[in-house]
Formats: sequence, structure tokens, C-alpha cells
Amino acid sequence: MASAGATGRGQQAALSDARQAARPSTEEIARYKREAAYAAAEEVQDGMRLGLGTGSTVAYLLQALGERASSLSGLRCAATSPSTEATARSLGLAVVSLDELGELDLAIDGADQVDPDCWLVKGGGAAHTREKIVAATARRFVVIVSAEKLVERITPPIPLELVPFAAHTTLRTLGQATLRAVPPSPDGGLIADYLGEVKDPAALAVRLSEQPGVVEHGLFAPEMVSSVVIAGAAGIERRDGAKAADRR
Ligand code: 5RP
Repeated sequence: MASAGATGRGQQAALSDARQAARPSTEEIARYKREAAYAAAEEVQDGMRLGLGTGSTVAYLLQALGERASSLSGLRCAATSPSTEATARSLGLAVVSLDELGELDLAIDGADQVDPDCWLVKGGGAAHTREKIVAATARRFVVIVSAEKLVERITPPIPLELVPFAAHTTLRTLGQATLRAVPPSPDGGLIADYLGEVKDPAALAVRLSEQPGVVEHGLFAPEMVSSVVIAGAAGIERRDGAKAADRR
């Protein structure tokens, strides 16, 4: 006869199996990313100044826009990374500097985590500094995610970009933070991750912003977010961020 402990472990294994079964496959996640990206691409209109994020979900956005490149007149884009810039250009999209555009009508980008209040974690692709500048410059910031990016609570890692000078001192002062084994950002910043517990994203965002040596962190406040387009097994859902009302 199985002991109580064995039964407990059996139940845990069953739960773990159920969770595993509920988790979408790699192919499903790719399909959801594509669906979210194509849904958001419908917001892009002639003459817009558009901010383009970075990552695999944004790659689908670029594909969607590329398919309409010849019919979208006067669309000008600002890219958040060299890879986005190169792909956008190769698909026939006009890419200019953000300084040239000054203000953006719309920015669209992915995210690593989205909590119920629309706090985001970004920077899995180490582009969060440029992404935050672009998002903050846009009248509307639309986030595109597959449903498994939704979380009940924000958890580490929280991406950081650091000034190279005394980076280890900055990390030591922060505590529970480590350099990521990736090349520096295009602006020369070192990419790191904060690994401490995230009890209160707002308080942590203030702390990270106030730490000398931190160029930018990957916590994006709900006030930056106009809307989140979420694609999953149930279809497309849209969630309003705190910047839902168009600032125009
Ligand atoms: C890059 C980012 C990306 O938007 C984020 O990592 C999501 O990536 P993906 O769309 O590949 O899942 O913040 O710095």
C-alpha cells in the first residue's frame, strides 16, 4: 500500500503534469505571438510615426507591416535595436531616428511579464533602455504578448542596463544583482539582472531609478501602457493600461 508521503508526491506529480499540459507548446506560443502582433498591426495607419520594439513578437509585427509596406503611405518608424532596424528596412519600412520624428503616434512592443495592473517587465532582449525611451515618447504604447506572459505577481529577474564604470560596485550596492553574459547594449551599457524579490514593483522601480550607475531598469509602470493585446487559446483579449485614454 502506498504511504501518505508517496500519495502526496503522486498528487504533486499529477498537479505538475496538469500544469505542464496547460502550458502552451512552443508552436502555440509562436502562433499566439503572431496573432497578438497582427492584431496590433491593424492600429497602424498612413502617415503615422511609429515606434518599433524588439524581440520575437515584434518580429511578427514587422512581418505584418512589411506585408502592407507598399500600401501604407507616409509611415515612418523609429527602431529600438539594430536588429529591428535592419529587419524593418529589409521589409521596405522607412526607419529614421527618434530625434528626427520628435514624437510618436504609436509604439508597439513585446514584454516578458505583464501583471494584473499592467506593470511590465521588459529587457529580456537587453533593449529596455531604448524601448522605454520610445514607449515614453509615444502617444499610445501598445504591448503585444502571448498569454503565458501574464503573471499574478512580477518576479525576478528584472533587467538592468549599467554604466560600465564601477559596474561591480553598482551591483554590490544593489545586492542580489548580476551581470548577464551578453554583449553590451548598442549604447555601451552593461546588461545585468536584479534577482531580489519584487514585493512592490513601484517601490523597486524608484529604488533602481535612484541607484547611481543604473542607466535604466526593465520595470515599466502601468502609466506608460495604453493597452495590452494578449493572444491565447481563447483568442485575443485587450487589457487597458493606465494610459488608456489617447493623449491626442
Ligand atoms: C526586449 C524585450 C522584449 O520585448 C521582451 O523580451 C519579449 O520578447 P519576445 O517577444 O521575444 O518574447 O523587452 O528587450
